[in-house]
Formats: sequence, C-alpha cells, structure tokens
Amino acid sequence: MRFEPARRLRGDLTPPPDKSISHRAVLLGAMTEGSVTVRNHLRAQDTGSTVAAARKLGAGIEENEANTETPGAGGELRIHGAGLRGARTNADRIDVGNAGTLLRLLPGWLAGQPSGHWTLDGDDSIRRRPVDRVVEPLTAMGARLGCRDGRLPPLTVEGSPLQGIRYRLPVASAQVKSCVLLAGLLAQGETTVIEDLPSRDHTERMLRHAGVEVRSEAGAVSVAGVDRLALESVDVPGDFSSAAFHLVAAVLVSDSDIVLRDVGVNPTRTGLLDVMQRMGAAVERHNERTLGGEPVADLAVHSSPLTATTVDAGEVPLMIDELPLVALLGACAEGVTLVRGAQELRHKESDRIATVVEGMRALGATIEATEDGFEVEGAPRLPGGTIDSRGDHRLAMLGAVAGLCSSGGVEVLGFEAAHVSYPDFKADLSALKA
Ligand code: S3P
Repeated sequence: MRFEPARRLRGDLTPPPDKSISHRAVLLGAMTEGSVTVRNHLRAQDTGSTVAAARKLGAGIEENEANTETPGAGGELRIHGAGLRGARTNADRIDVGNAGTLLRLLPGWLAGQPSGHWTLDGDDSIRRRPVDRVVEPLTAMGARLGCRDGRLPPLTVEGSPLQGIRYRLPVASAQVKSCVLLAGLLAQGETTVIEDLPSRDHTERMLRHAGVEVRSEAGAVSVAGVDRLALESVDVPGDFSSAAFHLVAAVLVSDSDIVLRDVGVNPTRTGLLDVMQRMGAAVERHNERTLGGEPVADLAVHSSPLTATTVDAGEVPLMIDELPLVALLGACAEGVTLVRGAQELRHKESDRIATVVEGMRALGATIEATEDGFEVEGAPRLPGGTIDSRGDHRLAMLGAVAGLCSSGGVEVLGFEAAHVSYPDFKADLSALKA
C-alpha cells in the first residue's frame, strides 16, 4: 500500500473505539451474571479474538446487526455473562490471535475458577510474547499454570483456590496489573498491586463501575474477593492511541488543521500530548466530559515546527503505544530526540525498538537503537521509501503517516496489519486529505 505526500490535512473525524477498554468490557461482561450492554465496542481483529474467547467460555454475545456493515465503526454488544465463577470448563484451546491484552488478562479470571483447564495460544507474534510476568504473581496466589520454556505461550491454566497477595510489578504493565486484580476478585482476602510508575487504569475504573471497591493510593491498588460483578453497561470512548496517528500527521503535514472527536483522554494514556507540547505542537481540548468513568474530549491540532525533546522512563508507560510516533516526530524536529527507559518496547507485537529503527531508517531517517530506546536526528524533510510492518499494526500506520509528511512517499509492506486495531485507518486518513 502506497502513501503519497499530502498537501494538507483538514476536517474532523471520530477515531475508532478504544481497544483496551473494549477488551476489558467484553471480559468483565463475561464475568458478570446477567446482561451487560457495551456501546461503541471496537470491531477489529484483536477485540474479535476477545469476543470469540468470551463465547467459548460460556458468555452469550449478541452483536447489533445495524452496525455490522462498516468494519471499525463502533458496534453494540449485549453480553449475557457466564458469571464470576462460571467460566465454561470444557473450552479446550482458546485462540487469542494477536491480542496481548487478552493473553495477559484472561488468565487472571480463569486461574481462580472452581475447576477447569484451558490452553491459551495465538499467532506467531503472540508466541514470542512473555507470559512469565503473569505466571509469577498468579502462582504466588496459588494458581496452577504452565508455559513453554518457562516464559512463552502456549499458556495452560487450571482453576484452583487463590489467596490474595501484595505484589510489586517488576515492569510497569497495565496488563499484568489488571491480570492480578482480576484474580484478586476471586481470591480470599485482599490483593494489592504496587506500581512504581503509573500505568493505564481502565481496569480499576471499570471495576468501580461494576460495583467493586477498588482502593488506589500512593501507587498501590487493592481489591478484595467479591461474590459477583454488577456491571450494567459500558460506553467506550474513542481510542487515543488510534487518534495519535492523525494528531501526528496533522502536526507534520504543513498547513493542516483537524479536529478529532470523542477521544478518550484518560491521563494514564495521554503522555504523547505533553511530549508534543514540549516539541512545540499545540493540541487544544474542547468539550471535555466524562463517559462511564473515563474522561473524553475533542482534540484540535494544526501543523507547527518542532524541536527535539527527551522522553524519560517516567513518561514511557503513559505513552507506551505512541513511542513509534515519537521516532517520526523526532525525525522531523530540529535537533536530536531521545527515548530512554523504554526497554518494554522489545516485548510488543514486534520488538518495537528494532522494527521502528529499521523501518524509519529505510525511510531515510537518521536513527540509532539503544538498549532501552532510540535516538533520532531531525531533518527538514523525511525522504520516504519502503517500510515493512513486520505484522505490527502500529508500524503499518506509522509508515502511512510517514508517507504523508515525506518528500517521496512511502510504500508500506504488510499494511493489512492495521486491521488489528483500526480497520478503517486508510479511509479515515484519506478523508482528511484536502
Ligand atoms: C495495554 C497495556 C499496554 C499496551 C497494550 C495494551 C492494556 O501493555 O502496550 O497495547 O490494554 O492494558 P503493557 O501493560 O504490557 O505495557
């Protein structure tokens, strides 16, 4: 797929529903007895894996037909949950596809079931993603789990009685935190997760919305075992991580001015806005409001010249999925931009330090990988060329945005990877070209 240089970007659009929140809505819906309505659910490959897994585990899920024509447009789900301790036990192999969030969150629910045995497995990329990070705390709670070489999928889970624990996360990870909290709902006593750096808190917010008492103070989040969840509905905001591609495109393509509507602006997700502001871009927030416990706003952005910045470890979890875009911002800014303390990027859908550096270099950027990030030197114009997505949705979309602000255009190999989180990405980006 080829992306030619754009003259300018104009107009407004609503990004697709949030992927993280859609995964959680389906999982918590499956864990609830009774019916749960999910409005504006993301229909994409990744969240499709979660819907299929929830069905296999006994949840009845109806999708509103009226909305199923446009892939990527938010759908409405009606979930008839299996109940907190009611996951179907004869569900043999669960295919998580490419979904790391499903791979890490689901074991938290399954580990505390009264009985049952499940195997979680997925595509080639998922088979390279570490699961020891959830095996370790769950085992400490009394769970029975097994994985390949002590750290990789397939992951086997057997239901068993759990005890609450106090667990300090060795890496900032919302997926691991969420997994332990979900297991905590099924455990005896209290479970506390301590995080040195804050990570996204969608699980905590949704659990509160489901009537669970979640205590958060000074970097520690606690839940106690409960009998049931009382979730009635979830309204999913637009995905900041998907909106970020358009935000960056509008800053970099000269003479651009766009508005992104109904975007989730949970502060544990919007670190990129602070970085963009430091670099000289101004993103205005309008119409700020709250939707089902999550902050939402419209974001207005126009093109501006950028200067280099440094992103440090403390900011990394607040923009973990947007760091590839910092490579592109840095390549177009004056000076040398550094990203440090981001070794976690090596464990994403691809080794994102390696694939971003290799991909951006193929487009003519001056960029070097470091152990825990990268260093990129800005130039007035990115030449362009060919980038391989390596099956990683965020790399595919990075290449497309790079094409728009390059001088020679960009060919993206394996662009279909974008379907993992944003099936309509190309159409949305094209609609902004003016
Ligand atoms: C996610 C958390 C992040 C993020 C991923 C989605 C989540 O992963 O990179 O895309 O939904 O909790 P980690 O928590 O492992 O950093």
